[in-house]
Amino acid sequence: MAKRTIMAAGNWKMNKTPSEAKAFVESLKGLVADAGSEVVVGVPSVCLPAVVEAAKGSNIKVAAQNVHWEASGAYTGEISCAMLKDLNVDYVIIGHSERREYFGETDEMINKKARAILDAGMLPIICCGESLTQREQGVTAEHVRYQIKVALLGLSAEEVSKLVIAYEPIWAIGTGKTATNEQAEEVCGIIRKLVAELYGDDVAEKTRILYGGSVKASNAAELFAMPNIDGGLVGGASLKLDEFEKIAKA
Ligand code: PGA
Repeated sequence: MAKRTIMAAGNWKMNKTPSEAKAFVESLKGLVADAGSEVVVGVPSVCLPAVVEAAKGSNIKVAAQNVHWEASGAYTGEISCAMLKDLNVDYVIIGHSERREYFGETDEMINKKARAILDAGMLPIICCGESLTQREQGVTAEHVRYQIKVALLGLSAEEVSKLVIAYEPIWAIGTGKTATNEQAEEVCGIIRKLVAELYGDDVAEKTRILYGGSVKASNAAELFAMPNIDGGLVGGASLKLDEFEKIAKA
């Protein structure tokens, strides 16, 4: 079976204005034109129109960082999948630990968002990961399996074969403390085994599983070379052109 295409996905979080975003992607285009990986930039909602425009004709795909699951209605401050699709957004990051922690996003909400994103013709990047306490308690596998099992409820095998899962241990996010290759590989392997239990080996061979948490140019290649790691979800290092270029080429 051919190896899955590596994905280098940037998660800018709440960084860069639309003008800064446009300039960044215009520069990034040339730098990653020959990258072997699928390059994705996950940008703030207000940057999406400028970034989609700047990325046109390039190999850069565009991700939103959040969406609401309802089609429309009285949800002040929210944006819908139809709005993102209308802008030609490709992916939506959901279930990031910062959204779970600061904005009360639950596994059930993430499942509804995944359903809505797929129905709109986009693909979710579903994040999961344990806290330091959970790792120390020895419940990492149970926690991550629970998160992903609920997130995938009701999704078809075909849908699961196309979507992306990102394993991001919370203790490694923005801390500079990257999981070891073995720690990251172990949990990505546990997730792939869960997908196989739920959907069969063929689907599990296709689903891309990323690692996230202090990925940088200096550690990307070794992480991405692990058998069950299909790329990275990159925060801080995705804000710097030279770092992100190297990660996309790792
Ligand atoms: P980091 O963030 O690369 O800055 O650790 C990763 C993420 O939160 O997706």
